[in-house]
Amino acid sequence: MHVDISVDCSGHFGCCTRCVTWRRKGIVHFLLAIFTAMNDLFTRKSRIIITCNSRLSPWLTQEMMELGIEIERSFLTGVEALGTLADCIPLNLRLRAASQILYSLDTFQAEHPDDVYEAVKKIAWEDILKDDGFFSVTSNVQHPTINNTMFTNLRVKDAIVDRIRDSKGTRPSSGSSAQGLVVHLFWKDGDAEIFIDSSGESLARHGYRKIPGKAPMLEALAFSTILATGWDRRSPFVNPMCGSGTLAIEAALLATNRYPGLFRNNYSFMHLRGYDDTLHQKSREEMEAAVNDQVDLQIIASDNSSGAIENASLNALAAGVRKKIRFEVCDFAATPIPATEKGVIFFNPEYGERLGEIPELTEKYARIGDYLKNKCQNYTGFVFSGNFDLVKKIRLNPARKIEFYNARIDCRLFRYELYSGSRRKDRQDPVQAEPESGDVASDPS
Ligand SMILES: C[S@@+](CC[C@H](N)C(=O)[O-])C[C@H]1O[C@@H](n2cnc3c(N)ncnc32)[C@H](O)[C@@H]1O
Repeated sequence: MHVDISVDCSGHFGCCTRCVTWRRKGIVHFLLAIFTAMNDLFTRKSRIIITCNSRLSPWLTQEMMELGIEIERSFLTGVEALGTLADCIPLNLRLRAASQILYSLDTFQAEHPDDVYEAVKKIAWEDILKDDGFFSVTSNVQHPTINNTMFTNLRVKDAIVDRIRDSKGTRPSSGSSAQGLVVHLFWKDGDAEIFIDSSGESLARHGYRKIPGKAPMLEALAFSTILATGWDRRSPFVNPMCGSGTLAIEAALLATNRYPGLFRNNYSFMHLRGYDDTLHQKSREEMEAAVNDQVDLQIIASDNSSGAIENASLNALAAGVRKKIRFEVCDFAATPIPATEKGVIFFNPEYGERLGEIPELTEKYARIGDYLKNKCQNYTGFVFSGNFDLVKKIRLNPARKIEFYNARIDCRLFRYELYSGSRRKDRQDPVQAEPESGDVASDPS
């Protein structure tokens, strides 16, 4: 069902010159009436920037489309939409590839930190912050006058504190913790924009992983790579070398319709003046009701480290999907492969940046190639790696190479079609070809 929840913009913050309908699949429409009782930011449409780690925006775009949310624009590190702070609540609870959900309060021109101070002080912070509230300031600044964003953050903080002291005679507390309300400044060249960061702590960590293990994938990255495999969320998903289990757990969460908001109780939006928890609670209840444990899944995760499997199993328990994953302690080549007409087998081996030594890894990558070719017919094979020389040792022709970053390491997700008689790469160099069109995130304009 598509419901129109558009609200007329009065231009209060000079932000909504392009009010359009935000059509949604019935996530927050149920309580339009209560919006009016809340801070009017909860009913006022504005620009929403949803940030993500570099190269994740195609997957963030895909999940937003699955949630039925219209996107105005996408760029390398995020997407733009229109909506209210009330709209930000279910997005914070549900989005898996996102980092921060930023709601625009105002845009202005700035050539000096004093311009930022003056513009920020004009905003009615006494209507935004709770009397006993705590806030912090973050920023993304690229301006020749600034070589330390701490200074800019301090100017923003001073403007907010001075505004509230002048209007109410009280002084809100502030610091660096993201546990309270977070205010975000974007300032590039002469253009500045001030946001409520409705998330606070990054959404890219999904809250269930208590024991990280060695070289774990960030949850938002693991989720995005799973979307990139095109896994149908029902056929077998096999993850040898699972480490802390992030990929298997994210696959189980996706297939059983469990969202990260089930594992988190504090967001920045909860610290806004006039915040009413009804909407958050209702969103949570909807998520709980949507969990589908009836699905018949074959998710297999293995590692040759018993400690890793112990951690992965505890992490899966915390995520509520322990019973959906079969864990095995074994060499990857002994991982059981269910007979199937189609399935995904996903390796994230060490690639010599943080773990492992190259000669040992060379042999390991060659064995991964043998295993994919000889044991995984009818599956689509995926190898996520940041060492393309090692990937050549797999000696299979990748059908696609999809670009990602793991922290700052340039990585690829290599895709191999493994039907019987899978082509062995003997002479060609599989990683010389450029990524296919559509495999690379578009640059921001
Ligand atoms: C890069 S880590 C995987 C990280 C994982 N994706 C996560 O998010 O935690 C690679 C894992 O491969 C395991 N491993 C290394 N050699 C192996 C082998 N021959 N058989 C099975 N597992 C192996 C290591 O114990 C390690 O946990």
